[in-house]
Amino acid sequence: MTTPQKSSTVRPRVLLQLDSDQHPSVFDAVVAVDSKVDHLLRHGSVSPDQVQEMVHGTIFTRGPKELMNTAIFVGGSDVVQGEALLQAVQQTFFGPMRVSVMMDSNGSNTTAAAAVLAAERHVNLGDSRVALLAGTGPVGRRVAWLLASQGAEIQVGSRSLRRAQEVCESVRLRFPDCVVLPVETGTNDALVQVLDESAVVIAAGSPAIRLLPESVRLQAKQLQVVVDLNAVPPQGIEGVDVMDQGVERDGIACYGAIGVGAYKMKIHKIAIGRLFERNDLVLDAEEIYALGAEILSSNA
Ligand SMILES: NC(=O)c1ccc[n+]([C@@H]2O[C@H](COP(=O)([O-])OP(=O)(O)OC[C@H]3O[C@@H](n4cnc5c(N)ncnc54)[C@H](OP(=O)(O)O)[C@@H]3O)[C@@H](O)[C@H]2O)c1
Repeated sequence: MTTPQKSSTVRPRVLLQLDSDQHPSVFDAVVAVDSKVDHLLRHGSVSPDQVQEMVHGTIFTRGPKELMNTAIFVGGSDVVQGEALLQAVQQTFFGPMRVSVMMDSNGSNTTAAAAVLAAERHVNLGDSRVALLAGTGPVGRRVAWLLASQGAEIQVGSRSLRRAQEVCESVRLRFPDCVVLPVETGTNDALVQVLDESAVVIAAGSPAIRLLPESVRLQAKQLQVVVDLNAVPPQGIEGVDVMDQGVERDGIACYGAIGVGAYKMKIHKIAIGRLFERNDLVLDAEEIYALGAEILSSNA
């Protein structure tokens, strides 16, 4: 990570929360307060055409050396809208007139970083085939990006081949050389095929949806690590406990949603703190992943 800048005057830390949902995320607000933000300015239903005026409010109010005390957080349940907001924010900056910004719509970047880093504790992703179950939601999409960034061979699962294909196309746009295949995972037979030769399974399905029954998991002979992101029973991966954090079960390292959530929370809070060390950081998927790797390696 880059060296912190020095502020000429210590100003209160102000975080502008731009959220694409009607009600800005309470979760993100609480994490901001817990990350020593002094003033949180929360706006909901924000669209890209409204961003410029709000960003001007952040960059024209403090001198250039004090801008590191103001930052922007982009959130909301829709990751595509979040990407559009992030782009609009960055397009408003010019020269030194900018503040640091983090995008984490629906916890997508921090959760995906935590999930991929958990898997990476056990396998070299560059040599591994990964089955990403229900990889079409905000979190799954970012998991797919990060897996591609690490050189994994990815199978993106969905009940709909079209939705899986759409995710694969977005991954290829960002990582043209990656190996990423869409797969339909609606039946146990299809799952058995998808898991064949997979070293890693990451389940990113909606809460309370079982994606992988134990009977199928036990047939996957190459599996080394499974990560389940659903915290609400029944678990997405049968047999994984929600608290698991690398617990070995049937010879496989298991992570449950709360186990991974502990990494996610650490990454999220430290990322908010980093926004106030400089005025020119952009924390999106890869930057948050790099920050997570730094944090987890220093805690190892
Ligand atoms: N542990 C943490 O710290 C943490 C943080 C944030 C989020 N989460 C959890 O991470 C998971 C992913 O979050 P998300 O917001 O990306 O999820 P999401 O958008 O609610 O769902 C992801 C995918 O689940 C699949 N799905 C939905 N209903 C289904 C059903 N009835 N049967 C089978 N598949 C179904 C859908 O894929 P298809 O329609 O393409 O099949 C959907 O795109 C959630 O469980 C969320 O609670 C965990």
